[in-house]
Amino acid sequence: MKLRSLLFVPGDSEKKFVRASQSGADVLILDLEDAVAPSMKEAARAIVAGWIDRAGPNQIGAVSSSLFVRVNPLTTGLAEGDLAAVVRPGLAGILIPKADGAQDVAAIAAMLDRLEAAAGMVVGSVRIMVVATETATAMFNLGSYTPPHPRLVGLTWGAEDLSSAIGATANKEADGRWTDPYRLARSLCLFASASAGVVPVDTLYVDFRDAAGLEVDCRRARRDGFLGRIAIHPDQVETINRCFSPSDEDVAQARRIIAAFAAQPDLGTIGIDGKMYDIPHLKAAQKTLAAAGEAP
Ligand code: COA
Ligand code: MG
Repeated sequence: MKLRSLLFVPGDSEKKFVRASQSGADVLILDLEDAVAPSMKEAARAIVAGWIDRAGPNQIGAVSSSLFVRVNPLTTGLAEGDLAAVVRPGLAGILIPKADGAQDVAAIAAMLDRLEAAAGMVVGSVRIMVVATETATAMFNLGSYTPPHPRLVGLTWGAEDLSSAIGATANKEADGRWTDPYRLARSLCLFASASAGVVPVDTLYVDFRDAAGLEVDCRRARRDGFLGRIAIHPDQVETINRCFSPSDEDVAQARRIIAAFAAQPDLGTIGIDGKMYDIPHLKAAQKTLAAAGEAP
């Protein structure tokens, strides 16, 4: 399952669902949480269930994106009802917001076990992603995702809810960079993902008209290790897909590194064009080819 671009779609907007279906996003996150007003929560459950029935794999109106649902946080008491409405054939995953740690994954997974069986689905088939930095408690539990729950495929992070949780008045410096608490959250999300062996997904870029700014920020994210990114607007998807896919040059360089090591199988360190390459570079090159869909 590709987790490069994950586009949020408010769970009560038919128009946006249609538009999102044509966006080319790897994942559509059908939202029942904060993009839906309290008065629309109940209606949104039925609307999202209808989309999954219509557009899930094997349906006549199937979309190319995997369908995930962001449920309401466990603390609201709404999560179980959300799951009961949307766990049906065609659902690929659940995004858990405001999670405090791996215990929330276990709690949602136990509900999924029951609901999948009742819906005639393979138990364990619905995957889980977590927004892992939205509460103060969560910040102390990033290590709890290791070892990973078998359903866990990725972690992402969020700054807005964390700001509100700690009573911050802003989360960016005047030049647009994250302030320290959010740089910590972002970094810990990366380390927690690498530790658990799941995909690190960078948070959203709020200024959805600024394609150039998004591109710069995605390049930084990829440089640091993120493998995908949340989108909030269909216009962001193309940039995200491009920035998180290996470029032709990346692939060519990876092939050169792998070929050089294969040609000298007894060496752990080699030189190419005056630069040193050792085993971590070889592993990175293998990952690049895998991300490009090529066997090393
Ligand atoms: N998914 C699908 N379609 C979307 C979309 C999205 N996330 N965001 C915008 N669109 C559609 C709009 O409906 C509009 O369609 P139209 O041309 O048929 O009218 C078109 O794209 C252009 O939209 P635009 O005018 O540029 O933006 P907007 O002011 O209508 O919407 C937001 C701005 C932020 C409200 C909207 O992008 C949005 O709802 N994003 C997702 C928010 C969300 O889910 N947040 C939760 C996670 S933080
Ligand atoms: Mg939020």
